[in-house]
Amino acid sequence: MDDARQRAEEKETCPRCRLSRHQGVDALRTNSDVIEEIKSRIDIVDVVSRVVDLKKAGRNYKGLCPFHNEKTPSFVVSEEKQIFTCFGCGKTGDVIEFEKEYHGIDFMTAVEKLADECGVKITRRGGSEKERAALLEINRQAARFFYINMRSRPNPGMEYMRRRGLNQETMHAFGIGYADGSWDSLLKYLKQRGFEEEQMLQLGLVSKSRGSYYDKFRDRVIFPIRSTQNKVIGFGGRAIGDAMPKYLNSSESSIFKKKSNLYDLSLAKNAIGSQDCAILVEGYMDVIALHQSGIENAAASLGTALTEQQAALLKRYTKNVVLCYDADAAGQAAALRGMDILHRAGIKVRVMHVTDGKDPDEFIKKRGRAAFDALVDAALPFAEYKLKVLQTRFDLGETEGRIGFLEEAARVLNQLSPVEADIYIKKLSADYGISEQALHAQQEIRKSTPRTGRVRRGRTQQQSGLKPPEKSVLKVLMTDAAYLEQEPGIEKVFTSPAGVRIYQAIAAMHREGVPVTAVTCAERLSEEDAQMLRDALDGVLLGSVDQVLSDCLAAAEESRLREEEEKIIARLSLADEDDNDEEINRLTRRLMEVQKELTTLKAR
Ligand code: CTP
Ligand code: MN
Repeated sequence: MDDARQRAEEKETCPRCRLSRHQGVDALRTNSDVIEEIKSRIDIVDVVSRVVDLKKAGRNYKGLCPFHNEKTPSFVVSEEKQIFTCFGCGKTGDVIEFEKEYHGIDFMTAVEKLADECGVKITRRGGSEKERAALLEINRQAARFFYINMRSRPNPGMEYMRRRGLNQETMHAFGIGYADGSWDSLLKYLKQRGFEEEQMLQLGLVSKSRGSYYDKFRDRVIFPIRSTQNKVIGFGGRAIGDAMPKYLNSSESSIFKKKSNLYDLSLAKNAIGSQDCAILVEGYMDVIALHQSGIENAAASLGTALTEQQAALLKRYTKNVVLCYDADAAGQAAALRGMDILHRAGIKVRVMHVTDGKDPDEFIKKRGRAAFDALVDAALPFAEYKLKVLQTRFDLGETEGRIGFLEEAARVLNQLSPVEADIYIKKLSADYGISEQALHAQQEIRKSTPRTGRVRRGRTQQQSGLKPPEKSVLKVLMTDAAYLEQEPGIEKVFTSPAGVRIYQAIAAMHREGVPVTAVTCAERLSEEDAQMLRDALDGVLLGSVDQVLSDCLAAAEESRLREEEEKIIARLSLADEDDNDEEINRLTRRLMEVQKELTTLKAR
């Protein structure tokens, strides 16, 4: 035993966290203890059945997989083993993994959520409860200080807020304060109350330079940032007028995590709950201006792009969110990213844009509440918005543009439930004169889930015989069969029976030095195969030859991996029935490798 540990034991403190032993078991427990405790108290079947309709099947429960689209259940939950496995898409894990994936939250958030539900106390990594309480108290006092400053005498902050049209009531509701221009007024105020500089520094209320501390917020309007429990966890400080930088925010600390809070949910949560809808905006000032106009269900992320944690937090209050970001390009781009995050979290997201003014704050001041409400009502649902944006990116008058649009649209459709996807396929078909069948076919190609993919791929194949990558590569080979030498992997693209036959004919002709054209090939093929080749050559090549070849080779590699994935999953289900743990472990490891390869392939 080393000295430090020996001394710690003598002083009755834990050698790892240095807390005295009587401070409660929770502080001393390791993470894995907590996780085991949670798992022992919570039944995965209960958790999953909140969101999936499970039916008893033998020793297990079965339902439709929430992680991919399917019509017949391949999602299995084992009560005995407390795990879930989808034999369709391969997702598998314990109850924490399920919460994580289903709600799109990180591991710790999932643990905290479940711990909360089953009454297991956990100690946050940020330090003990006591430390946390001390830091919160400093913030509370600081907020008071700023608020009193704002109210007790005339100051530039008050003048600026008035100029921005805020009334006293609103300023009170948000606790808006003012940090004066001196370098140490907050520092002195807090020191007098017995707080330590190091703690102020931790919270980012003061800065330190050459050994001395000074106030960080000077001559700024202060927006206290509160947690949903109504505790001040940080501050946003806005410059008066055009001074730079426009905002200074409290630094990240054990009590202030920008990524998992929203401004100002403490005030908005009731309205969000009762209206069953939240409006997400970009700025503090947007939230405040909307609130003053009577729109109380608005919140903003804290100067960062919307995160999964924020989506999960919102989802506690509502599953309906309207994104209302600034009208500029940055705002629109942020809206596109934000809507994906919300959609993945299982939130029904709609998007609106203010039509007059740069942001919701300007809009509501110019046009008033009724006009804003009308925009909220007209906000476009996820798919419609995305398709509308796509439409502007492609020239739909051109074949290439239509094909590009179709491909991208298929990606959007794949993010929808099958029922929704069908609705939009009908709509797209009506709007753009693209056949429903073509849209379905595109959607299949884009689909990444193997089980449904396989079934439907079969159907597409019956219709056309050749797969899209095979057709593209045939187009290339007909321009010059010498590509066979340049790209030795080409052969792998041909996997359908007809594709293999046509490829072999072409390869043989090229070896023999016979010119390769549709006509010469036809002489060596059956009438049916020759017709398929002619059909394949119809239409233009999408992109440069090199691009097409590398895409097709990647697609071939992907389908090879998918096939292996399916085989492993099938064998896993057999091993599972046998309770063959060794085999399960081996297969699971291989499955993870294959899935990793697939992810890298897609990321290219
Ligand atoms: N933000 C930040 N730091 C900056 C600029 C912005 O943290 N230097 C964050 C703030 O949370 C801000 C949000 O990003 O509220 C949106 O920025 P912006 O639209 O510029 O701020 P508004 O709150 O709308 O401020 P104003 O209307 O006064 O310009
Ligand atoms: Mn603004």
